[in-house]
Amino acid sequence: MSKTMIMDHPLVQHKVSLLRNKNTGTKEFKELVCELATLLCYEATRDLPTEEVEIETPIAVAKTRMLSGRKLALVPILRAGLGMVDGMLALIPAAKVGHIGMYRNEETLEPVEYYCKLPDDIAEREVIVLDPMLATGGSAVDAITQIKKRGAKSIKFIGIIAAPEGMQRLQEAHPDVDIYVAAMDEKLNENGYIVPGLGDAGDRIFGTK
Ligand code: PRP
Ligand code: URA
Repeated sequence: MSKTMIMDHPLVQHKVSLLRNKNTGTKEFKELVCELATLLCYEATRDLPTEEVEIETPIAVAKTRMLSGRKLALVPILRAGLGMVDGMLALIPAAKVGHIGMYRNEETLEPVEYYCKLPDDIAEREVIVLDPMLATGGSAVDAITQIKKRGAKSIKFIGIIAAPEGMQRLQEAHPDVDIYVAAMDEKLNENGYIVPGLGDAGDRIFGTK
């Protein structure tokens, strides 16, 4: 049974509020996305397997625990997901990074895939798909379908803001995927934007509007 987590940590709530503010500029916006990715990564990796190891400290031998099991792969959905990669790598620097490019057709709101390059051994890795915005859910659902077609068996999704519509669509299409987000908003507007949301995440990260 998959898991859905909306992180209610005070630091997360504070940073999401700053992100929402229309007066937050590109530099600060990018930093906040990165910091939120680190905080979400901490929660999403809580169930990683560990094994007992012996480490010599300057004082004695300690029986302690280190990560074991399958390696990780991060797959940001271009463009906005890119803003989350460095924040994730701050905690899991050995993860490989694949990329999947999707954009929403502004009229139909349907996602269009334009690029996909994943690590060769994606089937053996725990995959974490990254996209700050889960709006209609179309981009996340399609990206995960494509990643599964290329062999991935274990996938989590990390986002920052979700709309109820997108969350439901993702849960129904991929019930095996655990979902971690920082906030669940009210609804989508007629243009498919999350309300209240934060606007266009890609444009705000890359300063393109
Ligand atoms: C945004 C966002 C998601 C998608 C979410 O990307 O980064 O990928 O929309 O919407 P959905 O849940 O309705 O599919 P956009 O298409 O604006 O491309 P960009 O990241 O290149 O700006
Ligand atoms: N993509 C965004 O960047 N923002 C939204 O509100 C919806 C989709």
